[in-house]
Amino acid sequence: MPLTHRSTLTQFLIEERRRFPGASGDFNALILDVALACKAIARAVAFGDLGGFLGNHAAEGGGSVNVQGETQKKLDVLSNDVFIRRTEWAGNLAGMASEEMELPYQIPGQFPRGKYLLVFDPLDGSSNIDVNVSVGSIFSVLRVAKEVEASGRDVVEADFLQPGSSQVAAGYALYGPTTMLILTVGDGVNGFTLDPNLGEFMLTHPKITVPEDTQEFAINASNSRFWEAPVKRYVDECLAGKTGPRGKDFNTRWIASMVAEAHRILMRGGVFMYPRDTKDAAKPGRLRLLYEANPVGFIMEQAGGRASTGETPMMGVQPTSLHQRIGLVFGSKNEVERIERYHAEPAPKESIEPLFSPRSLFRD
Ligand code: AHG
Ligand code: MN
Ligand code: MN
Repeated sequence: MPLTHRSTLTQFLIEERRRFPGASGDFNALILDVALACKAIARAVAFGDLGGFLGNHAAEGGGSVNVQGETQKKLDVLSNDVFIRRTEWAGNLAGMASEEMELPYQIPGQFPRGKYLLVFDPLDGSSNIDVNVSVGSIFSVLRVAKEVEASGRDVVEADFLQPGSSQVAAGYALYGPTTMLILTVGDGVNGFTLDPNLGEFMLTHPKITVPEDTQEFAINASNSRFWEAPVKRYVDECLAGKTGPRGKDFNTRWIASMVAEAHRILMRGGVFMYPRDTKDAAKPGRLRLLYEANPVGFIMEQAGGRASTGETPMMGVQPTSLHQRIGLVFGSKNEVERIERYHAEPAPKESIEPLFSPRSLFRD
């Protein structure tokens, strides 16, 4: 492949920083370390079984289970470790939190501490690893309170409980046919493709925008009997197609890798729903607020899309715990707003009835 004149991620970050002459460079250094972690994970994912990386993580007494009660894959554990090792040393972080760690991670004593918090899902969609379907890493960067920065004290859960609107940056890497890094620093969304020859992320998708309308939606239909009425109504209306109230046909997609669904939606529009449902009263939603909903929500909003709990904008939600789960709806603005409207208004009788009619796919 010939060398192109595209910007590298490093060049992009340096040019962005010129807008803030007082900036220390810590933030850029952190993003570059995260990008290096993603490159390392991309290699491990690409080697798959050849690297001995497939299957469940073996721990003493059998497999290991994370704080969510989910079986950890070898690559979940390895990716978590790569994120930590690549970012802990540089003096940019006050602490970290991850899907795979119950408690906040403290920067070891031999390293300086900094002003940012890194929150991540080291490998999203990891049930797809063994079947060779796209997975990714999701990250969110927050500022730590000035008091913590000044004292350098250990971080606690409360330090991370900041709403999505406080994020300084968010992004994800997608390990698909190509490896891509999608990044927002609060000034739009830019996409980079990993050049495997140079080992550099190159700016290939500047200023990504999500189309406002769509004819594609993603939801795990096996949960339909647990959905709340507004979600049932929305899906039923989509499925009714051209002859229904929407007057157009819809397509469905479900990859079971939220990061891959987010990427499809960034590229061509769509709506993703993992709504709050009645499946398990202890789990108000499947996905996690701090390292799934917030970073992906920030990216969507920065690209002109929308992210919501179904009822309120995701970016305004005040977190209450590190591993909090939440209903998540994101994607093309007009569709997400419609779903929010359905939650806000009492469902009209005529649009509920088809749900329970004998011919409905989703009757109870
Ligand atoms: P993770 O692999 O980080 O635990 O996340 C998996 C998530 C998300 O990526 C995906 O949308 C969802 O789980 C799939 O859930 P279902 O198995 O219920 O479809
Ligand atoms: Mn995940
Ligand atoms: Mn994960």
